[in-house]
Amino acid sequence: MINFKENIARGLARETGLDADELMRKIETPPDHKMGDYAFPTFMLAKTMRKNPKAIAEELKDALADVEGMSKVVAQGPYLNFFVDSTALAKSVLDAVVEQGENFGSSDIGEGKNVVIEYSSPNIAKPFHIGHIRTTIIGDALKRIYRHLGYNVEAVNHLGDYGTQFGMMIEAYKLWGDDELINQNPIPELVKLYVKINKEAEENKELIDKSREWFSKLEKGDEEAVSLWQWFRDVSLKEFKRVYDLLDIEFDSYRGESYYGELMVEAVEEIKSKGLLVEDKGAQIINLDEYDLPPAIIIKSDGSTIYLTRDIATAIFRKNEYDFYKNIYVVGSQQILHFQQMKAILKLMGYDWADDCVHIPFGMVSLPEGTMSTRKGKVVYLEDVLNRAIDKVDVILKEREEKNGSKMDNRETLARQVGIGAVKFQELFNQRIKDYVFDWDRTLSFEGETGPYVQYTHARMNSLLQKGGFDPARPVDVSKLEKEEEKELLQMLYGFNQIIVDSHEKCEPYFITRYITESAKIFNKYYANTPILVEDEAVKEARLLLVYGVKNMIRIGLNLLGIQAPDKM
Ligand code: ARG
Repeated sequence: MINFKENIARGLARETGLDADELMRKIETPPDHKMGDYAFPTFMLAKTMRKNPKAIAEELKDALADVEGMSKVVAQGPYLNFFVDSTALAKSVLDAVVEQGENFGSSDIGEGKNVVIEYSSPNIAKPFHIGHIRTTIIGDALKRIYRHLGYNVEAVNHLGDYGTQFGMMIEAYKLWGDDELINQNPIPELVKLYVKINKEAEENKELIDKSREWFSKLEKGDEEAVSLWQWFRDVSLKEFKRVYDLLDIEFDSYRGESYYGELMVEAVEEIKSKGLLVEDKGAQIINLDEYDLPPAIIIKSDGSTIYLTRDIATAIFRKNEYDFYKNIYVVGSQQILHFQQMKAILKLMGYDWADDCVHIPFGMVSLPEGTMSTRKGKVVYLEDVLNRAIDKVDVILKEREEKNGSKMDNRETLARQVGIGAVKFQELFNQRIKDYVFDWDRTLSFEGETGPYVQYTHARMNSLLQKGGFDPARPVDVSKLEKEEEKELLQMLYGFNQIIVDSHEKCEPYFITRYITESAKIFNKYYANTPILVEDEAVKEARLLLVYGVKNMIRIGLNLLGIQAPDKM
């Protein structure tokens, strides 16, 4: 596509002798389109040109009239305002739509760069609950966005499959476990065992010693301990995978915390040899005063390592394994301090890539019926929430069938696509750091800023294209696109790549969610005011091509968020 901004910057550079890149950074977007599509403040030229900004604007406007893709250049006070030529915009954008197809909005800025994105990471033998929805869905969207920009992404599920609690699990299982019950309903049964042993251990200290023994056996690779642990892990993972299938989410690696057992020993040795460990009441800690952070425990007084130590080993492993450009952790904001400490330690260890480890935090999600608390046993399983969304959409679709007196041939698939899509959309609609309350009515509404609304708009465009017999291979006279809303839609198409780039830079998928929602709104307004399938063939073809481009953009945008775009709704 034509780069209008760059053209303006080159024109300015030619006239002023200043650096084009620098000038480009100074070009603004006016608050109102009526003032132009781009504006350049001339203050910054006052020194070199020894004139007042107003006079400079006056002087330059004629010299810049020939910038490619502009219809006019206006001097307004200390500003040069540039108006993009509609036909040049339409031609450039719609050529790209046809040429790039599925890749519209992509670029190659990530080429040759490896990025690790870690997300979801539930704990085995523990519920996969509504609280995990955020990391899971945000992480998956980031993976898709990074891939669209050409990065090699390794999607990692850092399972919580290690820790002293597995000693307790084994002991509890040996005492009270029932294979059949566990196989039938793994996680709730394992949780029950865990709760029971914790309770009993308050009275019976012997259980704690027994559990410790089991954990130490597990660490040493004792056959029975390992095979029980492996079983807990397998049944848990099977449960998790059912949820990932529902969500259409995949990982490249399920290397959990347990994978880093030996590497952790090496990491601790390395920390020690670099003289970073000091003793503190029997524990081994690292002082992080230099980074204004509280000291971090590396080895507890009973000799066991902790979560943080495992993350140090993990980061080093990932650098060696993937030679990452970025190592991204999509983990809740409760762990901000944890990741600050991790990075500080990596820096003290002398790793210059420590700053390439990026924590992407997010706020809390709660349900209208109140936040869940594991301790009170009030767990809301993510799978139940997803199935409920699907069921609710199914009810809506059934009502529609009744009203229309005809059956849909794909109601089940559609209920899934819309139900899951709605949940993901709500999750990705706001800045991630904000807390939010899961709202069933808003999520599933077909109106307003929701997933179903955008999906529905997409399906509507699709049927319009079919009805019009649209064929992207036919040449089109784009000068027929003269309406204000047509120009707005073309602008949206033009800006799509930049919004994806911005979204990846800030790791904020909501940029895309809002962008496609805005585009859907503009389209619906346009469609309400403007007939598309008109007599005049040339006008019809031009409008259909525009609709095709917007439909494509919305589908790609939804897909980047992990949301499907059904053709018919
Ligand atoms: N399993 C942890 C939890 O459920 C999240 C793991 C986050 N990732 C990490 N590398 N520490 O809280």
